[in-house]
Amino acid sequence: MKLAQKMNDGMTTDSSTAIPSPADQSRALRDTLGQFATGVTVVTCRDAAGQPVGMTVNSFNSVSLDPPLVLWSVGRESLGYDAFTRGEHFAVHVLKADQQHISNLFAGRGADKFGQVHWRPGPDQVPLLDDCAAHFHCRLAQCIEGGDHTILLGEVLEFSASGGEPLVFHRGRYRALAGD
Ligand SMILES: Cc1cc2nc3c(=O)[nH]c(=O)nc-3n(C[C@H](O)[C@H](O)[C@H](O)COP(=O)(O)O)c2cc1C
Repeated sequence: MKLAQKMNDGMTTDSSTAIPSPADQSRALRDTLGQFATGVTVVTCRDAAGQPVGMTVNSFNSVSLDPPLVLWSVGRESLGYDAFTRGEHFAVHVLKADQQHISNLFAGRGADKFGQVHWRPGPDQVPLLDDCAAHFHCRLAQCIEGGDHTILLGEVLEFSASGGEPLVFHRGRYRALAGD
């Protein structure tokens, strides 16, 4: 892979000069992608045994209003991978600024996540977390292979917003929005 990249020290490195290792390239790409500030969501579903499954996600984005479509991507290594890619429904919860602990909880691998938050069964039994800025209940419309992740396209069936300051993720850290 030829990856020209502007390094932090201002040097441009490409295949005609020193070739960074794949690990260095991967780290540089990850750091550069991290310049893009996002919100933070928790996506939930049920696994084949009916157990609640959830994970923290910042790849969420809007796709289309007509029909109403959203997307996010799940890593192949995620313990919830099968549940999300084989399930029929999922719910996306937009976290508020004071819900960093929920983001950390659902970013933990296989932890007892649902024993530590307030939630209820929503439509199609999909777990709905209490007190988030917004949620979208979706039908899984399509899975699209995307390298080490799979992109999930969801048709929005139901949604609501209660608002509040959002939790923001930027350069690997949680941030607050600057005041108006
Ligand atoms: C802010 C933040 C955003 C994340 N976004 C994603 C994402 O979009 N897709 C993904 O697969 N993992 C994402 N992760 C990592 C997962 O939350 C993490 O791998 C989690 O352990 C997965 O849970 P599981 O392995 O129990 O399914 C994110 C983590 C954090 C902290």
